Amino acid sequence: MDWALARSEFPTLQRKTYLNTCSLGALSRRSRAAVNRFLDLWEEHGASAWYRIWLGEVQATREKVARVIGAEPGEVAILPNVSSALAVLGSCGPQAGNVVSAQMDFPTIPYAWMAKPGFEVRLAKSPDGVRTPLEAYEPLVDGETRWVATSHVFYTSGAIQDAAALSRLAHKRGARVLLDAYQATGQLPTNVRELGVDAYVTGGLKWLLGGPGVAFLYVRRELHAELHPALAGWFGHQDQFAFDSASFRPHLNARKFEMGTPATAAVYAASAGLDLILEATPEAIRRRTNALVRDLYERLRDVGYDLATPEDERERAGIVMVRLADPAAAVKALAAEGIIVDHRPGRVRVSPYFYNTELEVERFVDAIRRVAPP
Ligand SMILES: Cc1ncc(COP(=O)(O)O)c(C=O)c1O
Repeated sequence: MDWALARSEFPTLQRKTYLNTCSLGALSRRSRAAVNRFLDLWEEHGASAWYRIWLGEVQATREKVARVIGAEPGEVAILPNVSSALAVLGSCGPQAGNVVSAQMDFPTIPYAWMAKPGFEVRLAKSPDGVRTPLEAYEPLVDGETRWVATSHVFYTSGAIQDAAALSRLAHKRGARVLLDAYQATGQLPTNVRELGVDAYVTGGLKWLLGGPGVAFLYVRRELHAELHPALAGWFGHQDQFAFDSASFRPHLNARKFEMGTPATAAVYAASAGLDLILEATPEAIRRRTNALVRDLYERLRDVGYDLATPEDERERAGIVMVRLADPAAAVKALAAEGIIVDHRPGRVRVSPYFYNTELEVERFVDAIRRVAPP
């Protein structure tokens, strides 16, 4: 892979030291061109672009996501964001019992069930704010657990969870597993079948380089006949253009979880981002990102920063967290120097991707030592 060529796809990188992919992937020339193509089609064809072209792009996008995660296209639904995907999935089955998540998960995961009066949400605790060991989930999962819903990569530490081990634990107790892979898809080679998860959510915004407005829900095919969403819309109907208001016949595949008109401009941007990922391949991206993260981690550790990210590189993805007393002030001072990172409570969050360079990592470390010494 020619990483310098890949880097030239992202104009932002010529102006900024952009180390914030875990918040928002950089905009590629390809995504911009794809959105322009969408606008041209709109102008040229008006509504007939729907049938002839746009719905084809939506299907092509489902197919690309399926390739990235090792699923079948019929196992992927497109929704506007992860929260909506959780709402549809969470509406299936008995609306009572418990759901097990981790304290370290992105809040929208537990919120999806906290809002439902019939559910108790149990949060597995982390002893160090970096990982949540399997033993923390163990006592929480019982015969009433409907879902073990947790992250593939934690957004606050970059730690990778052993999703296959979590699936085994949940399945032994009769619970299903939902993996929030927003911080993983694209940067971690993934095969949902090998992970053994029942459902998997992810989105375009970050490591898939697709921008806001699209999320993807994988549900394994064996569950399509079993799960019946209590939320419905015409895109979930087998024959939506029959306009049959008298009966709702859902799709027989994962499209039953879709609801209304997709954000088509966002689908175009995401589809172009997926092309970049498929061309580079998650395997090569993982090797490249890993090398940058190793460099970043070691430089920061060697000058004495307290890092809330696993030391073992097999356990960490493209996020490094630096514990600081005033992370917001550090992020602001770095931005003034053209270095873009972000913060979460008590931590500065740095997330290099394949399009970054060792020089940028060095520039960041030099700058943080000046603005917020260890
Ligand atoms: C792990 C994780 N899950 C989910 C989300 C977003 O959820 P939604 O698409 O509902 O905004 C984010 C970040 O934006 C995230 O980091």
